[in-house]
Amino acid sequence: MPKRYGNIIGWGKYVPSTVITNADLERMVDTSDEWIRARTGVRERRVVAPGENTSDMAVAAARDALGMARVAPRDLGLIIVATSSPDYLTPPVSSQVQHALGAKDVGAFTLVAGCTGFLYALATAQQFIASGACDNVLVVGVELLSRFIDWQDRSTCVLFGDGAGAVVLQVSEEPSGVLSHVLGSDGAGAELLIMPAGGAAMPPSPETLARRLHYVRMDGNQVFRFATRILGKALRQAIREAGLTTEDIDLFIPHQANKRIIDSAARAVGLREEKVFLNIEKYGNTSAASVPIALCEAFEQGRAKVGDTLAFVAFGAGLTWAAAVVKVAPRPEPIPVRSFAGRVSDWLKALHPLGVVGRGPLAGLRAWARMILARRRI
Ligand code: ACO
Repeated sequence: MPKRYGNIIGWGKYVPSTVITNADLERMVDTSDEWIRARTGVRERRVVAPGENTSDMAVAAARDALGMARVAPRDLGLIIVATSSPDYLTPPVSSQVQHALGAKDVGAFTLVAGCTGFLYALATAQQFIASGACDNVLVVGVELLSRFIDWQDRSTCVLFGDGAGAVVLQVSEEPSGVLSHVLGSDGAGAELLIMPAGGAAMPPSPETLARRLHYVRMDGNQVFRFATRILGKALRQAIREAGLTTEDIDLFIPHQANKRIIDSAARAVGLREEKVFLNIEKYGNTSAASVPIALCEAFEQGRAKVGDTLAFVAFGAGLTWAAAVVKVAPRPEPIPVRSFAGRVSDWLKALHPLGVVGRGPLAGLRAWARMILARRRI
């Protein structure tokens, strides 16, 4: 049996339209544009409008990715939504996304791994495809941290922004998709980046609200040290396990948390500046959305191309980290379709003596069946 790979065939992103600049923050807390740019690389970030939620951003990014992939929501085998800021603690936001997309009865789950969530989700999606369980998987990274950030705390509020990114992985026989991945976790650092109240350990109460314990708290300096220590190591391991060298990497797309951290990771593996993709100045740290938004923009700007080998790295709350080497191969034809329409077409193909459906007497019947079923789906 040929090996099954999960090739990325569609990508999409959504960022809210409201911009908060460093100058805006200067009016809110004791900080300066100069400090923020020099210490983090961020100039501005996006935040959602009132009434706009995590699920809305996820659905917008997912629709773009599915449209580009030409995969109907019902043809998905699985939806994975990586986030630490769902609409509700329960139900899982992944089911809201599944329903809003019209992906009837498609399995969906939410994956929580801090800013590293998207890479964990990508590695998971690849396993579902490689095992034969799914042909098409939607992976979304989405974060709405502006509602979990203490806008009076200058050490955190300058860093984060909201947004969503999504990719569609489809089975391919071409070596593609996640060629290697490294996933890591160290819960000893749990308190370095934590939202103390609001979970089972400390349910919300008037006291937790008064003490502002339902907001993100971070020991930035310790997280910085951890990130600079771990990212280069993880990246080197992922490149080695893919059987490649740094020279084989066409573009490095890191989690956009801090420009100084990105520079140190790139230096650790000897990646030149022109091979590093950065968009932190526009969006800040969008956590689980950061890598897929950057991936999307890299393609939009022509920095990444189909055929390229990309390296990803991320770190975040947990503490967690992940690195992956991904090849984006040309899309194989014909496109595998697993919907009812696709299965009817497969049956017709099986009935035809030459196994050919595109020509011959069954072609009309096939086209008619597709048209009727496509209408039923709308
Ligand atoms: N404006 C001005 N001064 C500030 C600000 C600010 N916004 N924030 C902190 N400072 C001050 C501090 O109070 C401190 O002052 P002091 O020396 O008088 O005590 C001084 O700046 C230096 O503070 P440090 O924390 O040592 O600054 P550092 O160079 O480490 O930069 C930063 C801070 C940007 C937070 C950095 O540590 C960092 O990026 N850490 C990683 C954070 C991160 O990426 N977290 C996300 C993880 S991903 C996830 O899962 C969500």
